[in-house]
Amino acid sequence: MIKKGELYYPDTAAKKRAWLKSKSVYALAEKNPVKFWESVAKELVWRKKWTKAYAGTPPHIKWFVGAKLNITENCLDRNLVTRKNKVAIIWEPDDSNQAARTITYYQLYREVNKFANALKKLGVKKGDRVGIYLPMIPEVVIAMLACARIGAVHSVVFSAFSSQALQVRLQDAGAKVLVTVDGYYRRGKITDLKKQADEGLEGTAVERVVVVKRAGNQIPWTQARDVWYEDIVRGESDECAAAVMDAEDPMFILYTSGSTGKPKGALHTCGGYMVSAYASDKWIFDLTDDDIFWSTADIGWVTGHTYSCYGPLLNGTTFIQFEGSPDYPNPDRWAGVIDKYGVTVFYTAPTAIRMFMKNGTDILKPYTMKTLEVLGSVGEPISEKAWNWYFKEVGKGRCPILDTWWQTETGGIIATSLPGIGPFKPAHTGLALPGIRIRVVDEAGKLCKPGQEGSVVLFPPFCPSLLRGVWQNEQKFTDTYWSQYKNKYYFSGDLGYKDKNGLLRVVGRADDMIKVAGHRLTTGELESAACKAPQVAECAVVGVVDEIKGEVPVAFVVPKSQTDVAGMKENVVAAIRSTIGPIATPHEVFVVTDLPKTRSGKIMRRILRKVFTKEELGDLSTLANPESVESIKNTVNPA
Ligand code: WT7
Repeated sequence: MIKKGELYYPDTAAKKRAWLKSKSVYALAEKNPVKFWESVAKELVWRKKWTKAYAGTPPHIKWFVGAKLNITENCLDRNLVTRKNKVAIIWEPDDSNQAARTITYYQLYREVNKFANALKKLGVKKGDRVGIYLPMIPEVVIAMLACARIGAVHSVVFSAFSSQALQVRLQDAGAKVLVTVDGYYRRGKITDLKKQADEGLEGTAVERVVVVKRAGNQIPWTQARDVWYEDIVRGESDECAAAVMDAEDPMFILYTSGSTGKPKGALHTCGGYMVSAYASDKWIFDLTDDDIFWSTADIGWVTGHTYSCYGPLLNGTTFIQFEGSPDYPNPDRWAGVIDKYGVTVFYTAPTAIRMFMKNGTDILKPYTMKTLEVLGSVGEPISEKAWNWYFKEVGKGRCPILDTWWQTETGGIIATSLPGIGPFKPAHTGLALPGIRIRVVDEAGKLCKPGQEGSVVLFPPFCPSLLRGVWQNEQKFTDTYWSQYKNKYYFSGDLGYKDKNGLLRVVGRADDMIKVAGHRLTTGELESAACKAPQVAECAVVGVVDEIKGEVPVAFVVPKSQTDVAGMKENVVAAIRSTIGPIATPHEVFVVTDLPKTRSGKIMRRILRKVFTKEELGDLSTLANPESVESIKNTVNPA
């Protein structure tokens, strides 16, 4: 990279590998974004071309109107022509002593078709919802693509979510079939996922459960409902005609945390999602046939959908699917994987980078990581310190750092400076992708000046993969994303500013979302989970800064009865873990007599956070119960 003042630009080597090398692409796209997206869409295979590329009135927009397609024909069939025997997936197991697996494009094609045929026999039809509760094993990709092959709508539930979290998602989606696993490995230990899945099935419409064999653990079995994956694919044909989908047909639902406890099902559609996943992966990571792409995100999150499944397959890339944890069995595992496979593009989260940084550079000495060409970051703001460390110690000053900003709702990356163009600035995501209009506006919707913080919004025509709705909840959809600017702009909920160079920096959230080790949660959902503990009368959760995880939740709970508080903290932790999952475990739980409130009864979470971090509390005169603060102080920091 070449440094000019505080900015970095790609050198000749970085430019050489890039698809997009000239700044002029921005002006071209800005002139007519719709036309620009049309030109990329033409690189893909469609059954029928669109009559109009963009239509509708926000919040109800449409892309590629009238077009027909099947995403799997682009992920699989198309690649059989020139990449039939190329490796699609390199699967690296949790236990580094177990054998890795590779799956070629042809093998993947056959497996997907077999499972698609099997799903049909189980009664799955176009438009039906299929729940997928699988860890990072090849069958999760096969299952997603098999659904897409027959036009079923998949809804993947993160395998570390609890059975209750699975249940509410399956219920909301109205899933008919669930695909899960007997058990899986994480840090050498087996998680009995089938057992958890069974608990989550109660009160859902799921009729059949397909079980993949991975860990070989003993599992509960319900005859007539449960079936082994290997049994139902055996004997199935490896050809399955792809369902012809309308560009605006639903493709998948991915749940993301809501502020009250009920998750929102972000709905993505076939055409627009395909185009964004393809183009963003191609341009941002500059994928070519020589790349080994590794996105560390779990498939249960949108990053996993787009960059550990659809994006690389649409580009005919070889990508790594890693079952394990980057620091298991040793803190250098991730660097070992990079060298073992000659990873060229590495995409991870700031929480991982902070952990690598904390483990020090000594352990990295045996690794050259010389194959790396592009590095990415996603999920939360990356600090200047972490950016510089990543740049110097992993990329050796050679690789551009792409700080990619996007959301479950946008389906694909929409902001990051491009590797062949730049500029890059530590802690800044940089420029919106060509063809995307990201603006920072004030409350009235007026554009902010450089350096002025405001709300990060999208102007029309938004992006092809923007969510089309919240599953079965139109009100939530309009309230959450469109009401703020009267349907004119898409409201991301993020706060940020553009610097004098026009580079975007996202600083945080306007709402109660917190990022715990990159996982999206809301303090609201944590509170409603905590209130399920029997002794809790009232609860407030705040996010506090954590060196590695970024943020961690801290809970303040008021007991129903001051004399019945035995085991209360443990019960609150248990309620949160069983409602959401271990990722949401509070860092601390404080049992307090009262919560600070305004005269109108609003809990002042800001004060609670400051008490915890021992910051200056400021003016407490607007509180209805200022005395509560003194007592909380004594609980949090006992003398
Ligand atoms: C929220 C979306 C993006 C896909 C994975 C997470 C925060 C995400 C960045 C970044 C600053 C970021 C935002 C966003 N976020 N990337 N590069 N810089 N903040 O998707 O779980 O839907 O979370 O993550 O607050 O709204 P998600």
